[in-house]
Amino acid sequence: QTGMFTYDPGFMSTAACQSAITYIDGDKGELLYRGYPIEQLAQKCNYMDTCYLLLNGELPNAAQKADFEDRVTKHTMVNEQMQFFLRGFRRDAHPMAVLTGLVGGLSAFYHDSTDINNPEHREISAIRLIAKMPTLVAMAYKYGKGEPYMYPQNNLSYAGNFLRMMFGTPCEDYKVNPVIEKAMDRIFILHADHEQNASTSTVRLCGSSGTNPFAAIAAGVACLWGPAHGGANEAALNMLYDIQKQGGVEKIGEFIKQVKDKNSGVKLMGFGHRVYKNYDPRAKLMQETCNEVLAAMGLEKDPLFALAKALEKIALEDEYFVSRKLYPNVDFYSGIVQRAIGIPVNLFTGIFALARTVGWIAQLNEMIADPEYKIGRPRQLYVGSPRRDVP
Ligand code: SDX
Repeated sequence: QTGMFTYDPGFMSTAACQSAITYIDGDKGELLYRGYPIEQLAQKCNYMDTCYLLLNGELPNAAQKADFEDRVTKHTMVNEQMQFFLRGFRRDAHPMAVLTGLVGGLSAFYHDSTDINNPEHREISAIRLIAKMPTLVAMAYKYGKGEPYMYPQNNLSYAGNFLRMMFGTPCEDYKVNPVIEKAMDRIFILHADHEQNASTSTVRLCGSSGTNPFAAIAAGVACLWGPAHGGANEAALNMLYDIQKQGGVEKIGEFIKQVKDKNSGVKLMGFGHRVYKNYDPRAKLMQETCNEVLAAMGLEKDPLFALAKALEKIALEDEYFVSRKLYPNVDFYSGIVQRAIGIPVNLFTGIFALARTVGWIAQLNEMIADPEYKIGRPRQLYVGSPRRDVP
C-alpha cells in the first residue's frame, strides 16, 4: 500500500477505468457484450450486428444494420500507396510486424483530418478501421505469398469478402463456402471485445494523449502480438505440433510433466487467464465451431483436434491445473479452426487483431466521449536509491 493505490505487479489489475461495454465474470465464466451473453450473440447475430452493438450500445434494427453495413462496405478499399508500404518489408516478414506498420501507416492518410474529440470524426474513423482491417490483413498475407492483391467485392458479406481477398485469385471466381463463412464470422464475434485486456488498455492509454485513432489502434496491434496475449493462438497450435512431433497423444504425459516443472518455462498455451478462473465461454463456442468446420472439410479425424481434446481432458482432471483454475481460453481451439480454414499459423494473431479492432475503437471512443477523461498517467512505487549527491 502506498497510500495512493495498491501496488500490483500485474500493473493494470487494479480497476483501471469504468466502462459500459463488456462484462466478464471470471468465476462464473460469463461474458456479456453490452449485457448480451456471448453465447446468444454467437448463435443469433453476426459480426456486423456485434460491431454496431459494441459501438452504439444497442443491437441494430434492419434499417440501421443495412446502413451500417453499407457504410463499412464503402470504405473497404485502402489508398493505392499502401502497396508501396508493403514493398518495404521482406516477403517472409511476420504478418504482425507488417500489420503494425500498415495500421500505423493509415494514420498518414487521415490524421490531419481527424480530431479525436469530434464525435463525427470518431464515428468515421471506426467505420474506416473496421472496413479496412480485413483488406490490410489479406494484403499482408498475399504479399508474403507473392500473389496479387484481391480488391474487396461489395456484394459479399464481411466474412465472405475477407475469405475472397485471402484465398481468391484474379484467375478464377471464388466461391464462398457458407460453413467457412459462418465460422469466420463467429471467430470475429468471439474476439470482438474483452474488457480491459492488455491491448485494450494499451489503446486507451495511447489514445488518451489525443493521438489519432489509427495510431492508437496500431499500438493495440503491437501489444496483441505477444504470446501471453493474442499471440497465444499461434503458440497453442505450435505447442500441439511439438507434442505431435514428440509422439502425439502417447507423449502428453511427458509434456504435462515439463509444464509442471517451473524451471522448464513451458506453459500450456491456450490455457489459463488473468480473469477467467472457470472455462472461458468463448473456448466452448470455438470448440463447437471447430467440430462444424472439421466436419464440413471432412477432417473429423484431424489428429491435431484429437490431440487437443486429449490434452484438454487430461488438464481438466489434473490436480496441478485444477488447483490453479487453469481452463482452456479462447486461443486453445481457435488455431485448429483457422488451420482447417487454411489460414497460416503466423496469421492467427492478425485475424485476432482484425476482429478486436471494433472493441478497441468502442473502448477508445467511450473514454474520449467522457468529458472528465484526461491523459493516462499510471503512477509507480519507487524502490530505487534515496536522494544522494554526486561525489
Ligand atoms: C488472451 O486479458 C484478456 O482478456 C486476454 C484475452 C482477450 O480476449 O483479450 O482473453 C486473450 O490473451 C487469452 C490468454 C492467452 N494466453 C495464453 O493462453 C498463454 C498461456 N497462458 C498463460 O501465459 C497465463 O495463463 C496468463 C498469462 C494468461 C495468465 O497468467 P497468470 O495471471 O499468471 O495466471 P494465474 O495467476 O492464474 O496463474 C496461476 C498459476 C501460476 O503458477 P503458480 O505460481 O501458482 O505455481 O498457474 C500458472 C502460473 O504460473 N499458469 C500456468 C499457465 N497459466 C498460468 N501454468 C502452465 N500453463 C499455463 N498456461
